[in-house]
Amino acid sequence: MKKITTKSILEMKKRSEKITALTAYDATFAELEDQAGIEIILVGDSAAMVIAGEKTTLTATMEQMLYHVRAVSRGVTRALLVADMPFLSFQITPEEAVRNAGRFLSEAGAEAVKLEGGAPIIDAVRRLVDIGIPVMGHLGLTPQSVHQFGGWGVRARDKHEAEKIMSDAHLLEEAGAFAIVLEKIPAPLAAEISSSLQIPTIGIGSGSGCDGQVLVNYDMLGLYEQMSLKFVRRYRHLGDEIRNAVQEYVADVKKGSFPSPEESYDITGNIDDHPSYRT
Ligand code: KIV
Repeated sequence: MKKITTKSILEMKKRSEKITALTAYDATFAELEDQAGIEIILVGDSAAMVIAGEKTTLTATMEQMLYHVRAVSRGVTRALLVADMPFLSFQITPEEAVRNAGRFLSEAGAEAVKLEGGAPIIDAVRRLVDIGIPVMGHLGLTPQSVHQFGGWGVRARDKHEAEKIMSDAHLLEEAGAFAIVLEKIPAPLAAEISSSLQIPTIGIGSGSGCDGQVLVNYDMLGLYEQMSLKFVRRYRHLGDEIRNAVQEYVADVKKGSFPSPEESYDITGNIDDHPSYRT
């Protein structure tokens, strides 16, 4: 098992090997994703939506994100662990960005941070990289700007915005970012940006021309049913699975078939359960 690092991610682009990424918010999912071979685990501020039930990511706080990153870090052995910096934790000054990003590494076990935006946050990106904190950029439909955009629609459909995203991608590369998420931009633009950069792009809703792909785990597993997105492939329908399982449990308890004698303790049997704790 070879640990994935920011260096491995860059080498994968050089070898034209596609990079896989998923979000996770807790130790149990993180461990399952890690064991399944995912290369990057992103603790997204999408936690605000899929875990906390908020309508946008804007309510995520540093304390909430630190809690999720710390939990995920206990489940991850091999994947690169990236912490998403929440709204207002990095936009105000580069100093605040350093302090907050540093907390993700020193208090929660993250190995890199992700920041939304281009030119306006470039000083913060440069400063983080200069002091040794790896940065993943994020351009296109940056959810922290949802109110500015007026919704969740595809970005860069006009030439002006497409040129701006291309220029921001190059600014991020020059500032030392090791990868850039491209969210919900037209596939031809994402492919053009990807081939013009040395660092990898990780697409979400931006077509197959990106160097890797990321999805929100609750979306691809069919757990988050509030939004139906064209670009999400639902690999399982765990929402249905969970509802069915809970209905069976309710029925079993109501009719008295759970617990069975085998699922109960008596005074003569072995009453010691042995959980296998994470090491
Ligand atoms: O917060 C998040 O989950 C993200 C991914 C969708 C890239 O930023």
